[in-house]
Amino acid sequence: MSNNMRDCLRKSVLDMTAYTPGEQPQEGSVIKLNTNENPYPPSPKVVEAIKNALTSDRLRKYPDPLGTKFRNAASVALGIDPDSILIGNGSDDILTILTRAFVPESGLIVSATPSYLLYKTLSEIQNARIELVPFTNTWQLPQAWPYPGANLTFLANPNSPSGTLVEAPEIDNLGQLLKGPLVIDEAYGDFARHNAMGRFQKGAQPEGIVITRTMSKSYALAGIRFGFAVANPSLIRELIKVKDSYNCDALSLEAATAAISDQVYLKDTVAKIINTRNRMFLELGKLGFKVTPSEANFLWCTHEKHSPEFLYLELKKSNILVRLMRYPGHEGIRITVGSDSEIDLLLQVLRKLV
Ligand SMILES: Cc1ncc(COP(=O)(O)O)c(C=O)c1O
Repeated sequence: MSNNMRDCLRKSVLDMTAYTPGEQPQEGSVIKLNTNENPYPPSPKVVEAIKNALTSDRLRKYPDPLGTKFRNAASVALGIDPDSILIGNGSDDILTILTRAFVPESGLIVSATPSYLLYKTLSEIQNARIELVPFTNTWQLPQAWPYPGANLTFLANPNSPSGTLVEAPEIDNLGQLLKGPLVIDEAYGDFARHNAMGRFQKGAQPEGIVITRTMSKSYALAGIRFGFAVANPSLIRELIKVKDSYNCDALSLEAATAAISDQVYLKDTVAKIINTRNRMFLELGKLGFKVTPSEANFLWCTHEKHSPEFLYLELKKSNILVRLMRYPGHEGIRITVGSDSEIDLLLQVLRKLV
């Protein structure tokens, strides 16, 4: 690209720092505990559904723009109105749609910090302002929320990188204060003690709250790219105007529909991951790690003797990838809960290291 064309880019794009996703090595055998993927395969019904779609007329035709089959299946699985569901190409797509729809140029996005770094990137693309409100020492929200007038407020719950959960009354308090919508990003909601989906069940249609979910983590479909939002149907109708018409392809729609319909498989996988998480928590503690109790499929840790960078680099030498994360005042490693054998290997390497 010539310099001239570069000069034609919007200033906010030129000025922004790109979002850096976790490392995604495409070759070699690495124990990948850095981007919170599920160590187990998706439901066998997903593979079957994709195979069926391949042998049909599905690829030749455009997919259903609204994802009606998925919405109906999710409605049954979650006990919510199908019209309260918006489909997305991963929940990142949903977060982008929400930002485009609610945040004007120079508008205000607010999030608690440390949290999901994409919220900042979205504000930069939109040429909006972002204010980051520190969590309390116990990873809850401050008593007085300083930005009630935000155009959009993001709360990852459970939060990443901490894995902690803000309790329901605190969410209610925050929701009541805010003028704009509160987006509860429940990418890890299936691993937690509670989530906000009950607010949309039994015909309830709350205003002011949008829940976002992903199929990447608990449903083991990170490679498929599918997420969704749940909000008041009147809001969903407006958000549909903002999304790409065909933001979800035919195969991802089939896969996501099969996955969400298999709640027995989901619960089984989640239970296995929670068991391993509890074991990891205890074992890492014995090795001198300070581990934050987690309600997600990862653990946020620091070590009493070794720096996070040292641990990250040493584990990498042993072919184990974890995520090194640095925020103002917070630095640590985030370790995804892998399979039992992966975690046995991790612990074996760490025992020699620390
Ligand atoms: C808090 C949070 N929200 C959303 C996402 C995005 O998930 P996806 O785009 O894979 O659906 C992630 C992924 O790591 C996340 O950690």
